[in-house]
Amino acid sequence: MRYSLQAGGKRLRPVLVLAAAELNGRPAFDPRAAAVAVECIHTYSLIHDDLPCMDNDDLRRGRPTAHKQFDEATALLAGDALLTFAFQILTDAYIGNAELASALVRELAHAAGSERLIGGQMEDLQAEKCAHPTADQLEFIHLNKTAAMIEVSLVMGGLCGRMRPGPELDSLRRLGRELGIAFQIVDDILDATSDTATLGKTVGKDAKADKTTFVKLYGIDGARRYAEQHTAIALDVLDKLAGDTAFLHQLVATMLERRK
Ligand code: IPE
Ligand code: IPE
Ligand code: MG
Ligand code: MG
Ligand code: MG
Repeated sequence: MRYSLQAGGKRLRPVLVLAAAELNGRPAFDPRAAAVAVECIHTYSLIHDDLPCMDNDDLRRGRPTAHKQFDEATALLAGDALLTFAFQILTDAYIGNAELASALVRELAHAAGSERLIGGQMEDLQAEKCAHPTADQLEFIHLNKTAAMIEVSLVMGGLCGRMRPGPELDSLRRLGRELGIAFQIVDDILDATSDTATLGKTVGKDAKADKTTFVKLYGIDGARRYAEQHTAIALDVLDKLAGDTAFLHQLVATMLERRK
């Protein structure tokens, strides 16, 4: 658990939790436990994503993947444990506010569950070597395997900032959806164009597994245009939000130009 979690990574999702919580000044509730919980789920999803039965990757965050460093059973169990630990962190940290705790658990469980992250991962695997993938299939994969966790990071931050269900939280969700799709398109572009040393994971894996990606359907330039479109919508949604959006604006724009 420590090996994979402390390997680094961009920490995008926890940063989104903190940034959303601070949109309207000092947050009502400390968002740090929510941020760590989200990163635990994300890291578990990477450990399992790298297993031989899924993407079969040897390198993650510049290090051997968990099953390479240890063994498959250890990697499987470390992932299971991180998934469970996320909910333990939330309930322990926010036990003093039952309404907040249950809202955070509910949001995170939905995002990480069978209709979102898991459903997206399942479709990602089933769409390998698909001769005629459709745009809908592609959007389903990106929206669920990746955007769900990015959406929920912003929403959980908003909840820590005392946002109530309504237009403000809806906007954060929409922002996360557009940022999340753009983020996964850029991940697909980097897989096809970057190098292993820069990325910290083996490149060229999507083409090798014949994954259904934006690059496969639309080429690098087409994928880039889609990433730009989704980023523009994300920035538009963000600019209509109340509060100090400057940091998030810069972060969303930077994610389009990221090199890793
Ligand atoms: C990798 O996520 C998996 C995707 C959803 C694209 P990140 O690119 O955020 O990975 P880390 O956390 O920085 O390692
Ligand atoms: C992973 O998508 C999404 C999740 C882990 C939920 P990828 O399979 O494209 O991620 P990388 O490229 O291995 O990081
Ligand atoms: Mg995968
Ligand atoms: Mg993968
Ligand atoms: Mg990838």
